Amino acid sequence: MKLFLASKNKHKIFEFKRILAPLGIDLISEDQLESPLSEVDETGTTFEENAYLKASSALKETGLPSIADDSGLCVDFLNGEPGIYSARFAGEPVDNDKNNEKLLRLLKDVPKEGRSARFVCSIVCVFPSGDTITASGSCEGYIDFAPKGNNGFGYDPLFVSEIGSFGEISDAEKDSVSHRGKALEDFSKKITNYL
Ligand code: IMP
Repeated sequence: MKLFLASKNKHKIFEFKRILAPLGIDLISEDQLESPLSEVDETGTTFEENAYLKASSALKETGLPSIADDSGLCVDFLNGEPGIYSARFAGEPVDNDKNNEKLLRLLKDVPKEGRSARFVCSIVCVFPSGDTITASGSCEGYIDFAPKGNNGFGYDPLFVSEIGSFGEISDAEKDSVSHRGKALEDFSKKITNYL
């Protein structure tokens, strides 16, 4: 089955393909299209709303069943921020290093017990028939005091999960505990009715 993945993020595309390929899903990404898709204004107030906006816009433009995710980091000390604003936490253009520096600055002097956080991911898949699948996952952890490792992307070097820093664990280890891994697991179960 062909599914279009509405994401420009190379790391995410790689994670989705790695997890969905064993199900026989042929994931088409934007770099395989002749012309780029329109930018989608992420005007939703939740991860799920934003994922729906991206997936339905992609369906309209490609005609293919389309899947999109929206994800981010929610830090308890910051009342859930940066949340849906994770990518642009330190402003435009998106800069992961600046986002991580800002996060460390805001949590300066906060002891380990106060640094709890979770990654959250919502996945929405929309079909030409109007059917919609929604799936979600989260991963609990805490924000480290300094970046660790070179693996992953975004806030990974600062996020410590139950099995270690996302900047240091392998791809397969990350998939087994991550928000996206869990949301994809949930999605994999729900998509079987359509395969
Ligand atoms: P999205 O592309 O609109 O979903 O924005 C997600 C943003 O949240 C990314 O740019 C990262 O800053 C952050 N994020 C989401 N998932 C991850 C992850 O697995 N590791 C690190 N950062 C992530």
